Order: sequence, then C-alpha cells, then structure tokens
Amino acid sequence: MRQYGIIGYPLDHTFSPKIHLRAYRLLKMNAEYKKIEIEPAQFISKIKSLKSGRWSGFNVTIPYKEKIMEYLDEVDPAAEMIGAVNTIAVNPSNHRWKGYNTDYNGFLKPLHAFLPEIKSCLIFGAGGASRAVAFGLIKEGNPHQVIIVNRTETKAKNLVSRLQNLSAGRIEFMNFSEIKKIQFKMDIVINTTSLGMGKAINQYPADPVQFCHERTVVYDLIYNPEESPFLKMAKEAGIFTLNGLPMLIGQAAAGFEIMTGSPFPEILTDKLMQELY
Ligand code: ATR
Repeated sequence: MRQYGIIGYPLDHTFSPKIHLRAYRLLKMNAEYKKIEIEPAQFISKIKSLKSGRWSGFNVTIPYKEKIMEYLDEVDPAAEMIGAVNTIAVNPSNHRWKGYNTDYNGFLKPLHAFLPEIKSCLIFGAGGASRAVAFGLIKEGNPHQVIIVNRTETKAKNLVSRLQNLSAGRIEFMNFSEIKKIQFKMDIVINTTSLGMGKAINQYPADPVQFCHERTVVYDLIYNPEESPFLKMAKEAGIFTLNGLPMLIGQAAAGFEIMTGSPFPEILTDKLMQELY
C-alpha cells in the first residue's frame, strides 16, 4: 500500500485528506492519506524520521511551505521562484524528495479563458499566496502592468524585484494610502490577504469596484466564507467574481497528479465543487 500525507500545524480544518482519499477510492488505488501534524518544536526530528520511512508523497501546508524547502533533494523551478512548496513527490527508486508548488496551477485553473485579456493586475497582499498568484499571472499570461499593494512595504518590494526579473511589463509596489491615485481600470483585482476570513471576516483590503471596468475579474482566494466582503461588493456592482474554491480543488488535483502519476478524476472535481459550496 502506498502512503501519502499532509504535513502542517494545525490540521483541524484541512480538506486535503477528504479530496485525496475520495480520488484513491474512485480510481481503486491501494493507498492511504494521513494527517501528519507536527508541532514547530518537533519539526526537524519529525521530518528526519519521515525521510527514513516508506512514504510516496506529501502535501505541505501552513506554516511549513517555506521551511520544508531545505529538507528537499530537489525543487521544481516554479516552486523555487515562488519560494514555497506545497507538494512533495518521493521517487520510489531512490527515495529522493522533490518539491513543487501547485498553488499557482490551482489559481490559474478557473482563469484560463480570461488570461489573454488580462493586461493589468492589481494584487492585494505579498505573502506566500500572492507570490504564487503573481508568478502564475506572469508565467502563463502576459500582463503589461502588475501593482502589488501590501501593508508591509519591504515584503512587497522584495516580491516586486523578483517579478521584475521575470517580466518585461511594469511591476510596481503601492501602499494602501496611494491606491486612491490609481486613475485607470484594472483587468483583474485579487485579494490574497487574510482580510475577509477568520477574525477579519468583516474586513477587506479595499473596495475593488473603484478599480473595475465592465469586464474586470474580481478574484478572492478566500473560500470560507464563500463570499467575502471583497467579493460581495464586486458582485453587487455586477462584476464577475471568483472565490478560492476552484483554486483549492485545482491545487489538490495538480498535487495528486504529481504525487501519484495518475490524472485526477474530472468527475470528482465537479462533485467536490458542488459539495464544498
Ligand atoms: P499566505 O501564505 O496565505 O499568503 P501570509 O504569507 O501570512 O499568508 O500572507 C498574508 C498576507 O495578508 C500578507 O500580505 C499580509 O500583509 P503583511 O505582509 O503586511 O503581513 C496580509 N495581511 C494579513 N493581515 C492583514 C491586515 N490586518 N491588514 C492588511 N494586510 C494583512
């Protein structure tokens, strides 16, 4: 039996076991998927013991997506660029661990039809999720302009300079007090911050409507709640919106394919979308 698992802390709210176990069952795979909850103080010793075990692959989640990278034998170039790994494939012949980032595939999944039209992007946040989003937009699309807005300036400027090496377009940082000055409308406005969920459930980084024309896509990576205040404002103004659920399922499906070598069942994608809504 093949063994897979998710590494993180805490793991109370993860959907990953549900998604992966359903796929194994559907494809009649002889595999199991475990929650591997590791307290920060135990991280190094636990990773060392996992490395000597008989595992076939892992998902990695908060707070270890960056920290895990130094324990990998190889890192996919996209994950290296993003600076975070959420999927590890274990080579069955030599047990080497290779890290990938599928957050960016997941983010792009519901966006493919719109990508050719997306020339200007406004992104709120500069954390791990923002890095995957910005990298995805630049790698697969061709934006002429990307604006990153973040509370902590150094983090955003760091991201901007990394992105400038990848794109011929204009990539810039703005702080929250400067966004009022944006005169033109953006093709996509994205929230990657945690404003709109958990303790900040009633908050939002800015009203997205002020930056929208009639074909702008407003995208919030939050999926719980299904409709964040950011999305609600856009929807009420008749603007097309996307929440984080297709991304959640898309990143899991891409991770499944990397770890198992089998295509993720399309029918399960549809079912999960309905069930999780
Ligand atoms: P993730 O991996 O989900 O991106 P993260 O790396 O912790 O998580 O990033 C969280 C993002 O939400 C950051 O851009 C953070 O801004 P800072 O870089 O200034 O920390 C943003 N964020 C979280 N709480 C915020 C708040 N109260 N106001 C503004 N931005 C906030």
